[in-house]
Amino acid sequence: MLDLSKKYPRSISRNGMSIELSVFTAEDIDDVHQFACSLPEGDLQFLRIDITDRPTLERWADSVSKGQRYTILARRDGKLVGYGSLNRRELHWMRHLGEIRVIVSPEVRRIGLGALLASETFDIARDLGLTKIVAQMAREQQGARKMFQDLGFAAEALLADWVIDRDGKTRDMLIMSFDVTGLG
Ligand SMILES: CC(C)(COP(=O)(O)OP(=O)(O)OC[C@H]1O[C@@H](n2cnc3c(N)ncnc32)[C@H](O)[C@@H]1OP(=O)(O)O)[C@@H](O)C(=O)NCCC(=O)NCCS
Repeated sequence: MLDLSKKYPRSISRNGMSIELSVFTAEDIDDVHQFACSLPEGDLQFLRIDITDRPTLERWADSVSKGQRYTILARRDGKLVGYGSLNRRELHWMRHLGEIRVIVSPEVRRIGLGALLASETFDIARDLGLTKIVAQMAREQQGARKMFQDLGFAAEALLADWVIDRDGKTRDMLIMSFDVTGLG
């Protein structure tokens, strides 16, 4: 398990605002729940896990404590405004894979926070020795696609009807990936 205590917590500046980064622990469950419940329905439609559900958040915190996930929280003036998460695969034949998830609050979008959180989790993946980093999204999530593209990810697969939204409508899933072995 990676020791992140030297890197977090720390403050960074974006667009003149100070953002505090920290590692998600069980003590943050209330804040993450509040953050999730404040997200617009459009964002909640595409969540891989239902982060408005407290037991789901408890399992998440548990998996962080076991090193199966690494989640970096971003706060502005003490209020949670986003997170980036690296999820490892439990499957033996996918142990080289890491999946990045990022969500940023609408009020602080387009100032580089999403890309920053993606980069922070990307660095964790590299430090863990993972060689293939992936991001999954619904085809409609164009902002996410552009952000990962800008970070060097390439579209790898489009899987028809692989995800189902909160209204029960199926969507195509886009998988983007970054092959770390190609880096110097
Ligand atoms: C995708 C998301 C994380 C981006 O967060 P963000 O903080 O706004 O992203 P950034 O400011 O770092 O943007 C980085 C680049 O991504 C691209 N981008 C981000 N959002 C975009 C949008 N809505 N439309 C077009 N391009 C977009 C841009 O190229 C942007 O650079 P620029 O602002 O200099 O043009 C955010 O929109 C979000 O939380 N969406 C809902 C959840 C989601 O889709 N998560 C991704 C699935 S893992």
